Amino acid sequence: MGRRIIITGVPGVGKTTVIEGALKKLEEEGIAYRSINFGSFMFDVASREGKVKDRDQMRKLDRGIQKELQRMAGKAIAAIEGNVIIDTHCSIRTPQGFLPGLPEWVITELEPDMLILVETDEDQILQRRLKDPTRIRDMEGGKSIGEHQQFNRMIAGAIATQTGCTVKFVKNQDFLLEQAVLDMAESLR
Ligand code: AP5
Repeated sequence: MGRRIIITGVPGVGKTTVIEGALKKLEEEGIAYRSINFGSFMFDVASREGKVKDRDQMRKLDRGIQKELQRMAGKAIAAIEGNVIIDTHCSIRTPQGFLPGLPEWVITELEPDMLILVETDEDQILQRRLKDPTRIRDMEGGKSIGEHQQFNRMIAGAIATQTGCTVKFVKNQDFLLEQAVLDMAESLR
């Protein structure tokens, strides 16, 4: 039985970048994790069924469809053995408000050992979103991004209470990516 680690952070905080760096370091030490992007699982099903054309359309889908996609992704990922990283979100900003990324029926399947929140100052996240032409990001101000990070902390507390997993915060600041990578690698050893 391997370790199951959930890694979250608001869009553009750099979670995928930090995960990739940490996994490279661990590979050099012979420690292997399989990294699974929860959104990719959902997107594969949604695009196959003709519901979306790109990842950024998913959070605009009907709430019932998003929940069904979550359920399918949760079940499929829970069946994967060995050390697994699940790259996902504590909450998704939708036109109807925040949708929990890891509702009870998903988190119970996943049974995580640890939940990592990647965070940084909201102004830095805003700049990273503006600089990324490959994605259609929701336009929101720094204050709103800050509120989203706060909300995610509350969800993390609830998940820890429900599952008994630990919660770790990894700060991914501008010019300090290497520090974030080392911090995450340390948590995954
Ligand atoms: P997902 O693929 O997770 O999309 P995302 O949140 O937009 O994640 P990104 O990969 O775009 O951002 P990131 O934070 O990983 O940043 P990155 O490393 O690229 O999810 C897609 C969709 O799936 C969601 O929108 C949602 O609809 C759905 N979904 C997923 N999970 C779900 C769930 N559980 N329930 C329901 N729906 C779900 O970095 C961003 C930029 O910053 C890059 O240009 C990078 O070079 C730069 N950068 C990173 N670190 C630094 C640094 N230290 N200094 C300077 N620049 C930096």
